[in-house]
Amino acid sequence: MLVTLMGEGLKHPDGGTILKAAGIKRVFGRGNGAVTALADIHLDIPSGTIVALKGRSGSGKTTLLNILSALDEPTAGQVFFKGQELTGLDAAQRNKLRRKEIGLVFQSFGLIPLMSAYENVEFGLRIAGTKPKGHREAAERALEQVGMRERMKHRPTELSGGEQQRVAIARAIAHEPDLLIADEPTAELDSRMGFQVIRVFRDIVNRSGMTVVLTTHDPSIMELVDHVIALEDGRIVSQTTNEAPLI
Ligand SMILES: Nc1ncnc2c1ncn2[C@@H]1O[C@H](COP(=O)(O)OP(=O)(O)O)[C@@H](O)[C@H]1O
Ligand SMILES: [Mg+2]
Repeated sequence: MLVTLMGEGLKHPDGGTILKAAGIKRVFGRGNGAVTALADIHLDIPSGTIVALKGRSGSGKTTLLNILSALDEPTAGQVFFKGQELTGLDAAQRNKLRRKEIGLVFQSFGLIPLMSAYENVEFGLRIAGTKPKGHREAAERALEQVGMRERMKHRPTELSGGEQQRVAIARAIAHEPDLLIADEPTAELDSRMGFQVIRVFRDIVNRSGMTVVLTTHDPSIMELVDHVIALEDGRIVSQTTNEAPLI
C-alpha cells in the first residue's frame, strides 16, 4: 500500500531522522544566465530506510544528492546530518565528515581498472583515512556483504556490470558509514541486476541500520524502497511511504 502525505513529509518508523533539509535553494550561475536547480526543498529522511528520489532528467536529483552528501553547498537553506548542521562547515570539515560518515555510489561504478575487487575496496578505506590495521578484515567483510567475497581477486573487466556495482557498494560501505548516497546506481544495469543491487541495499539496511538515499527513474524500483520523493523542476511534488516494499 502506498501512502502519500502531501506537504507532511515521510512517515517515520522509529529510528528518528538522519538527514534534514530546510528551505534548500540552489542557483547555478548569475544574472540572466542563472539556473535555479532547486527551490523550497524541505526533507526529513528517516534513519534505517531506503529513500528514492525520482524525477526526469534535469529535475534536480543529482544537485540535491550533492548537497545532502556535503559535496556541494546550497545557495540558501540548511542541511542537518544527525543533528549537526552541515551548511556552515568549511570545505575541510565537510570532507572529513563525508569520508567518515557517508558512502558514495555512482552510476558508472568508478572502479579502478588495474586493481582487483579487493584492492579497490581496500584503496577506498585508505582514502577514508581509517586505521590500516583493520583494512583487510573490513574490506573482506564488505565484499562478503555484497556477495562478492568469492570473486575479490577479479578485476572489474572480469565482472558483469551488476557485480562491478556490488564491488563499488562494498567500497562505499567498508568504513561503515551511517549514510549511503547513490546517484542512479541501477541506470547502467538490466532490471535483474538492478534488482540485485537494491536487494544488497536492503540487506545492508536490515543488518546495520544504514540509511540509503538513491536516485532513479526506473518505476520498478519504487516498489522496492521504503520512501519515494518526487522532484519536478527542482521542487518536491510528492512524498510517498511504501508500507510494504517488495524486498
Ligand atoms: N554545475 C552546473 N552549472 C549549471 N547548471 C547546472 C549545474 N549542475 C546542474 N545544473 C542544472 O540544474 C538542473 C538540475 O540538474 P541535475 O541536478 O543534474 O538533474 P538530474 O540529476 O535530476 O538530471 C538542470 O537544469 C541542470 O542543467
Ligand atoms: Mg542526475
